[in-house]
Amino acid sequence: MSTESRILCPALQQRVTTAEAAAAMIPAGANVGMSGFTGAGYPKAVPGALAERIKAHNAAGGKPFRINVLTGASTAPELDGKLAEVDGIEMRLPFQSDPICRERINNGTMNYADYHLSEVAQYAWSGFFGKMDIAIIEVVGIREDGSLIPSSSLGNNKTWIEQADKIILEVNHKQNARMEGMHDVYYGAALPPNRKPIMLTEPGQRIGELYLRCPIEKVVAVVETNAADRNTPFKKPDDASRKIAEHILEFFDREIKLGRLPKGLLPLQSGVGNIPNAVLEALDSGPYKNLTAYTEVIQDGMLKMLKSGTLAMASATAFSLSPEGIEEFDKDIEFYRQKILLRSQDISNHPEVARRLGVIATNGMIEADIYGNVNSTHVMGTRMMNGIGGSGDFARNGYLSIFMSPSTAKDGKISSIVPMVSHVDHTEHDVKIIVTEQGLADLRGLAPRQRALAIINNCAHPDFKDQLLDYFERACASGRGMHTPHLLNEALSWHERFEQIGTMKPNA
Ligand code: COA
Repeated sequence: MSTESRILCPALQQRVTTAEAAAAMIPAGANVGMSGFTGAGYPKAVPGALAERIKAHNAAGGKPFRINVLTGASTAPELDGKLAEVDGIEMRLPFQSDPICRERINNGTMNYADYHLSEVAQYAWSGFFGKMDIAIIEVVGIREDGSLIPSSSLGNNKTWIEQADKIILEVNHKQNARMEGMHDVYYGAALPPNRKPIMLTEPGQRIGELYLRCPIEKVVAVVETNAADRNTPFKKPDDASRKIAEHILEFFDREIKLGRLPKGLLPLQSGVGNIPNAVLEALDSGPYKNLTAYTEVIQDGMLKMLKSGTLAMASATAFSLSPEGIEEFDKDIEFYRQKILLRSQDISNHPEVARRLGVIATNGMIEADIYGNVNSTHVMGTRMMNGIGGSGDFARNGYLSIFMSPSTAKDGKISSIVPMVSHVDHTEHDVKIIVTEQGLADLRGLAPRQRALAIINNCAHPDFKDQLLDYFERACASGRGMHTPHLLNEALSWHERFEQIGTMKPNA
């Protein structure tokens, strides 16, 4: 498809309009389902035009104009940032990582519901979010029959298109038109009791269609754009990330020798961020060949692994590439097209598939406690960072769930291993491995008190180790329940100390 002719459907050519005209079709209070996942494939023009409209409305002193924004996952300043800046979001779900949204969520001026990403579509089908008024979906192009060539993320697009009364399409000429053919849109999902097995037994299998179906009569506007996805550069792996990656690779080697992992490992799920990217880099320089990935997001590290042959193929729902990653992808898209499949997020993160394939899940965390409960989302128990994303989908259902973090945060003032987590996202029942730059604790087969010693001895920073051992020993000696010993009046005192004096260290 050439850049000039991305809208081939004659009826939809008639509906081409400006972002401002499209934004004028969105009423206050609307439930709006937007495309977008980890800064890829989100609408670039209509949300900004809507924010301008809201700003003018607010300046004129009208009743607050807010909408509810549902997406695949995080978007970018042009969407979340602009709408949050004008206080235009009443409710946001299911994931965000925008600094202005974060501020509003934490100062109580924006509602936010943080859901497992695999479950959002079924909630929408069940009507939990109310009627979907409008879908705003970025696409690469529109075919003659009105079907859509998806963009750099699929996320919840299929569901929003099905559920919405009206659809606004953004056709983005900046997205590489040769992405056509990389998508696998599954139309067999249903609510219980009508569910059928998802017939995926290998990460690379196709079970769906190349294009998004789209009822032409629902499309009220088509807006043409020419703007790049958010593309944050990756930091070079620092010392802590490199050590975390080394511990994980040593662990894989050991598991292979013990016959508990096959030589080609199992399909990899890798969270976003610098530590997961460092793990991918380390895997790429290891002895592995022909690995597979069944994950949410394709980062730069995965492109490199595909190129080197470490990875044979990757299934995901979105890209999340740096500027160099995008350049590399565009340069060699024919190669990557053979190796990458993008699916809807209810399939990329499907519990049934993650369990069947035996995914190895590697995700970041904010803190873990001595018994293996993990907090991925809340700083000091109350302040939302980003959200749970897909980490729960994979941690609960994968074969191995690995959680990683440097052992300290904020210049060493915070220990990421604490007596009790201040918020629980992943329980001790789901968390198998904890890794910091200090070492790795394999929790499988251990009872709670054994887990505590493994975590403290292997993962805690030396500045906090004695303090943790002292807590654990006194909890054991307290004469209370010995299954999971705690001193309830002290369990969250580390967080309280940080809030009061700016450090978790005892004698500061
Ligand atoms: N207490 C307070 N703050 C902490 C902390 C702790 N225990 N641990 C980390 N932080 C802060 C860091 O200081 C940093 O703050 P800054 O942005 O002000 O510098 C921030 O949290 C991010 O930490 P960082 O060490 O840079 O890690 P990261 O970028 O890898 O992010 C998570 C870690 C947990 C926030 C991130 O992995 C996440 O959002 N996870 C949940 C979603 C998920 O797992 N998605 C993947 C599924 S595909």
